[in-house]
Amino acid sequence: MKTKVCIIGGGPSGLLLSQLLDLKGIDTVLLEKRTRDYVLGRIRAGVLEHGFANLLREAQCGDRMDREGEIHEGFFIAHDGVMDRMDLDLHTGGDSVIVYGQTELTRDLYEARERMNGTVIHGVDDVQLHELTSDAPFVTYRDGEDSVRVDCEYVIGADGFHGVSRPSIPADVLREYERVYPFGWLGVLSETKPVSPELIYAKHERGFALCSMRSQVLSRYYIQVPLTDSVDDWSDDMFWEELKRRLPAEVADRMQTGPSIEKSIAPLRSFVAEPMRYGNLFLAGDAAHIVPPTGARGLNSAASDIQYLYRAMVDHYENSDDAGLDAYSEKALARVWKAQRFSWWMTNLLHAFPDAISYDQKLQETDLAYLFSSDNALASMAENYVGLPY
Ligand code: APR
Ligand code: PHB
Repeated sequence: MKTKVCIIGGGPSGLLLSQLLDLKGIDTVLLEKRTRDYVLGRIRAGVLEHGFANLLREAQCGDRMDREGEIHEGFFIAHDGVMDRMDLDLHTGGDSVIVYGQTELTRDLYEARERMNGTVIHGVDDVQLHELTSDAPFVTYRDGEDSVRVDCEYVIGADGFHGVSRPSIPADVLREYERVYPFGWLGVLSETKPVSPELIYAKHERGFALCSMRSQVLSRYYIQVPLTDSVDDWSDDMFWEELKRRLPAEVADRMQTGPSIEKSIAPLRSFVAEPMRYGNLFLAGDAAHIVPPTGARGLNSAASDIQYLYRAMVDHYENSDDAGLDAYSEKALARVWKAQRFSWWMTNLLHAFPDAISYDQKLQETDLAYLFSSDNALASMAENYVGLPY
């Protein structure tokens, strides 16, 4: 096969880029290891920045998000039995976020690729990247007994944290920065009415909790758990009981509970790989960086990479201008690191750290007290939560 841009990975990053480039007449081939059903079975976060939403509309993928997504102008932080509200609208001068599940968004992207007859190949094995520093890179993969070669001009590594693209960069070029947190999030999806019309982030001595939602009839809840716990350790009843204990009584009292339709544990990790370009390979999304989910930055950080990469590719193919491609790594990383900082800060603010000394706990309490005593601090949190400018 021959194409201009070979994209590895059919998560939101790869799908969005292939859709945007195809709309500009730039030919792409997308290679995804898993089946479409497998990709759509993964439950992930669901808070979108407006910059991301605009990019989805530009990709002709925003209709259902605009119909079914909910605008959220604030969220709550529950602590010490009280609920403090973060008014995003007030503190950003009119900005907000859209609550729309990543699973739904990925489905919309797959449907858009299908409508355009985009080349999306599922079930590829043993993907390998070759000759990345030459002007004729290529990708190989196995399809059953066959070995297939895709010749291209650029390779996009959008294959997530466990993909092959990042490890294809030589070790003496790649630098990795990482922090692993000593806990995970146990998440439950249930067909119940969300306990609150806005998200509730809860800080509690027993651990963090989050009340989120996918729609008015589908709730998503999380509790912080030790890394040694497994899903089997948590019956639905135990989950609801522990969630309620970490919330103010008035919230716990009105919580609708029901059977879980999905239950999983995700470890929390901060990770950045630099550079995000090696020769004609460009990394994007989780392939290059991971955040703990606390600040809802993961998907939005992926989207900002795609925005930079898309504009740079269009400049290259339409105007023979390579300035965007040359600046990609530096520009993307500058925003990535700000999302890292915010996610790290919000994680530290709200979780119970098993090894915290009493001094750390006092500072954590003071951080929260300062936040809700200062319009400047609230504005700083708000501008990060709705997304910094591209
Ligand atoms: N070959 C082909 N595809 C691969 C390979 C491989 N060797 N390894 C992984 N993949 C696929 C995965 O199956 C997955 O579908 O790449 C895709 C990567 O998708 P994501 O992990 O969803 O990463 P990305 O598209 O960057 O999405 C951004 O934001 O909120 C966060 O983690 C959340 O997934 C989300 C991410
Ligand atoms: C979610 O709904 O899954 C979600 C929302 C906000 C977060 C993290 C996860 O910060």
